[in-house]
Amino acid sequence: MSAAGQLTQRESDLQVLSPIQRYLDKLHAKCCKIQGGQVATYIPELSKADPDWFGISIATTDGRVYEVGDTRLPFTIQSISKPFVYGIALEDRGIDAVLRKIGVEPTGDAFNSISLTPDTGCPFNPMINAGAIATTSLVKGSSREDIMQRILGVFSTYAGRNLSIDNTVYMSEKETGHRNRAIGHMLRNFDILSEHPDLALDLYFKQCSISVDCRDLSLMAATLANGGVNPMTKERAISSDFLENIMTIMTTCGMYDYAGEWMYWIGIPAKSGVAGGIMAVMPGQAGIGVFSPPLDSRGNSVRGIEVCKNISKDFNLHCLRVPRSSRSVIRTQYDLSTIRSKRHRGERETEILDKFGSLVKVYELHGDLVFSTVELAIRKIVDASDSLDMAVIDFKRVTNIEESSAKIIVELIETMGHCGKRLLLVNLQPRHSKINRYLEEQLNSEERESTLLHVFPDNDIALEWCENRLIEQLRTDDDDHKVTLAEHDLCRGLTPNEVATLESLLKSKTYRSGDLIIRKGDPAAEIFLLMSGEVSVRVDLPNGQIKRLSTLSAGMAFGEIAVINRTVRSADVYADTDGECYLLSTSSFDELGRTHPTIKMTLLQNLLHNFSRMLKMAEREVTTLSL
Ligand code: DON
Repeated sequence: MSAAGQLTQRESDLQVLSPIQRYLDKLHAKCCKIQGGQVATYIPELSKADPDWFGISIATTDGRVYEVGDTRLPFTIQSISKPFVYGIALEDRGIDAVLRKIGVEPTGDAFNSISLTPDTGCPFNPMINAGAIATTSLVKGSSREDIMQRILGVFSTYAGRNLSIDNTVYMSEKETGHRNRAIGHMLRNFDILSEHPDLALDLYFKQCSISVDCRDLSLMAATLANGGVNPMTKERAISSDFLENIMTIMTTCGMYDYAGEWMYWIGIPAKSGVAGGIMAVMPGQAGIGVFSPPLDSRGNSVRGIEVCKNISKDFNLHCLRVPRSSRSVIRTQYDLSTIRSKRHRGERETEILDKFGSLVKVYELHGDLVFSTVELAIRKIVDASDSLDMAVIDFKRVTNIEESSAKIIVELIETMGHCGKRLLLVNLQPRHSKINRYLEEQLNSEERESTLLHVFPDNDIALEWCENRLIEQLRTDDDDHKVTLAEHDLCRGLTPNEVATLESLLKSKTYRSGDLIIRKGDPAAEIFLLMSGEVSVRVDLPNGQIKRLSTLSAGMAFGEIAVINRTVRSADVYADTDGECYLLSTSSFDELGRTHPTIKMTLLQNLLHNFSRMLKMAEREVTTLSL
């Protein structure tokens, strides 16, 4: 959008292409034909409105605005100011103090009804005038001028631009607002207003006279839909703590004596104003603004209602419509018998993992974790608990976690822990701040057994942890950290004499934990037979991170691929612990082919066997993850 508020060529090209824009254009053309309703006249200045003015605007929660018709014509916000001022009062005074003065019951009466709860004098809700005037009196400020500036400031944050008061409409209403004055005096009589009613009334007339356009309304609605943050400017207009309160009142009382039908047919929290505006909020999705001055007998814009009815029906936006996607929370599920960590295991460990790997199950979740989705995920884990020892929840594709869902997950960690089982959490991202905050609290709390909480930055590390725990629980021999040459994987099938021949060709080398054993890019001069300790093969990723390709332990070989292929080293290899390797130089390896071809053949056969095992694992991983 250019500074002058005109669409750039590219923006207008995009608008023409957009099916949403085309839909709005058609809807505007269709509703233009509706001729019913009367422009409000009880505020003389409003009667000057042209009944043909008509604009529709939709703003999404990621800041895209679609608009058609008179979306840039200024008009006064009128009663649409009420939910926003209610939000300020809640922030200034807290819910309890506000509820002591103003109820939350719909009246089914007109907006200007002179009705208060008989015994307390409390207005029934903040959307009828009595409640709105009382609400305005709760906004804090050092002077009347200061309060008004605060209200204007907050409204401007909602709209994402500086708004101002239409003084002509303000004066017009001030001169004729006798009914509201009567309401103000009643409120003073019941001590709902603690000062002269003129103070609150004047602010109320001014807040109703704030000048907006249709586009502003859609952005103000989108700000509510976006958790209180303007989707364009990213500025917060209201604390997210009060959004449900504001939108509940809009849902039950926003359309006065049409609120029931509005909910029945349209089902989107909304608020109307007598200048012809309607604002509707689709939480998490978008905001709608409609402007068309002719009103029905209840003071709601006739075309505005029709527009919202169409949009709600055509896009299935009734807020009580059950989202179908919510049940497919588990994206993939697999266990350690199909996918493992990047750590290579010897025969015995592999045997254990092959046999018992199904005791470790991984649940990759996606979407939002709300009650219905977390319940389903948790149920799957609980139902499988007889056949699992460890469960891993992968949050990589989870968009949001409700605090209540976080509590359920932590509860499951505890109950599983008490049965000797473990629940691990992996791939929690900064956007999962609720569960992160909750976990921090839990980790710091004294009652909780924090040893049960296992949070890992990625799957690979979590899987390795599970494998180690499984192997530790199930292995019968005590020390597997050192092998003799005869026990080494590469020597499988060699006679003792052949082992001795091979040994005579090998050179021993020891390493300290952290040593770089192989450097990427170096020429390949030898095959390494790991006799004790552990090493990891690592590569640098383009994003600067280091990724582990594999971890090897005693009895395994590395560095063989580059020797066989006669290429340079393709990755770094580091010692994870102190250890020892036997080195078979490329020349000795070649020499073996001439002097002892059967030994070389056996070595190659064993290498082939290991490759095919790795290939099979990779194949299973790819098949499972692409399901
Ligand atoms: O209190 C009044 O009379 C107006 N200034 C505001 C009323 C209003 O917009 C009612 N909504 N449909």
